Amino acid sequence: MIEIFKSDVEKGLESCPRTLPSKYFYDKKGDAFFVEIMNLPEYYLTRCELNIFQNKTQQLVEALGVKPDSYFELIELGAGDGTKTKELLRLLDEQNHSFDYFPIDISSNALNLLEKDLNAALPRVSVQTKQGDYFKVLASLKDNKKPKIILFLGSNIGNMTDDLAADFIYNLGSNLQIGDKLLLGVDLIKSEEIVLPAYNDSKGITAKFNLNLLDRINNELGGNFNLKQFKHQPEYNKNEGIAKSFIMSTADQKVEIKAIDKTYNFTKGEKIHTEISRKYNDDLIKKIISKTDFVLENKILDSKAYFADYILTRN
Ligand code: AVJ
Repeated sequence: MIEIFKSDVEKGLESCPRTLPSKYFYDKKGDAFFVEIMNLPEYYLTRCELNIFQNKTQQLVEALGVKPDSYFELIELGAGDGTKTKELLRLLDEQNHSFDYFPIDISSNALNLLEKDLNAALPRVSVQTKQGDYFKVLASLKDNKKPKIILFLGSNIGNMTDDLAADFIYNLGSNLQIGDKLLLGVDLIKSEEIVLPAYNDSKGITAKFNLNLLDRINNELGGNFNLKQFKHQPEYNKNEGIAKSFIMSTADQKVEIKAIDKTYNFTKGEKIHTEISRKYNDDLIKKIISKTDFVLENKILDSKAYFADYILTRN
């Protein structure tokens, strides 16, 4: 694990322009910063998707095509605290649907909390937590051939390039059967005035979240990044539809990373690209899924039309 982190950091810092993978945001501190981000007034994404799950729950159930008399597996990739999904689970339970809920997450701690919470709130819902890699868990469920619905919410797909997103969705499909569904939650392309503040909040939490990556390199790889001499820098342009986060060096400086046994020179103004958060529209979604075995079935929007849950069917 640490070896992969080390080689990813080495490769990223030596590429031109420099990059660091956003997946390394999520250590214990990073997880806590992300929870803070979700509660920020500027970070509309989570609230918009919750608005869909609260106000359009029946439409979701109908779009997923489930019937109370036929069993399905509801599988969530990266379940987190399950706040949104709970709305759907509650309605499915009320309507006597027959299903098991399989939340998959890397964090066993998050899964334990989620299971406790759901068992208390919805005691009739069967919760089967699965800790580990999404595709390993999906592979372990594949052979039972039970009808499946996969939830991939929160615009988590947006951290992937469109090519990687297509590969990812294709690979989901290869673990499913014809007629199975994918509920894909994505943030929609809209003006810079709305998107950019979500990645540049006034309290500076997103800045801390981004710079925590350097702290992690300091702590885990023996780096000596001076966090006071690096700055969070987000960018967004509506034509491209991608929010990008960078870490900018505010001085000419040297950084040593002991585990890699190298020193890197940063010039003033030089940037490290740390994250993309892709925003979508129908054309982009259609283009991405054209490279997969899914077809677009339906789309459900929040009341502001900022966010969409697309329902895709495996064919
Ligand atoms: C968890 C990937 C959906 O890209 O909006 C939040 C992560 N990055 N603020 C996003 C994030 C900066 C978030 N996702």
